[in-house]
Amino acid sequence: MMKLQKFVLASITTVLTIGTGLAFAQFQKPEDAIKYRQSAFTVMANSFGKIGAAVKGEAPYNKDEVAKNAAIVATLSSLPWQAFGPGTEGGKAQADVWSDNAKFKAAADKMQLAVADLNKAAQSGDLDSIKKTFGAAGATCKGCHDDFKKK
Ligand code: HEC
Repeated sequence: MMKLQKFVLASITTVLTIGTGLAFAQFQKPEDAIKYRQSAFTVMANSFGKIGAAVKGEAPYNKDEVAKNAAIVATLSSLPWQAFGPGTEGGKAQADVWSDNAKFKAAADKMQLAVADLNKAAQSGDLDSIKKTFGAAGATCKGCHDDFKKK
């Protein structure tokens, strides 16, 4: 019995250790991190753009579609940042991302709060507040791109 418990404990420790190792080695090369964050931005921007089309009247407003896309944006908004770790400079990211990282992180937080507001509005289906929160969220994208993304 003791032996089995010890074995189980050892196995759990091994699994935890491997898990942690994988988390750190998630991006083995800087290119992997760049590809990851660009992909996350691309998919997020696709849903964001669909909401934009409805907000601007370029596409009919469909509550369920907008709600679905806002939920996708809100979920994906947490993904890119883990792929901006030390040593992953490159892509269209400016060097300021790393040299002024506190400002970059603040801009990322601001965007996540803004898209959470947009998601709340989208789930409620109130088009006026969807328009308002979409505009505010879009401004946080642009704000960060102006400061941290190469043209
Ligand atoms: C805190 C900063 C920041 C915020 C906020 C931000 N972005 Fe970006 N975005 C970047 C950076 C930096 C890049 C360049 C990444 C790279 O090439 O490595 C980028 C790249 C992109 C790209 C291009 C991806 C590619 O394949 O080249 C798209 C599209 C994009 N962002 C959309 C958005 C949208 C939409 C929002 C708002 C909902 C947003 N971003 C918010 C910093 C930000």
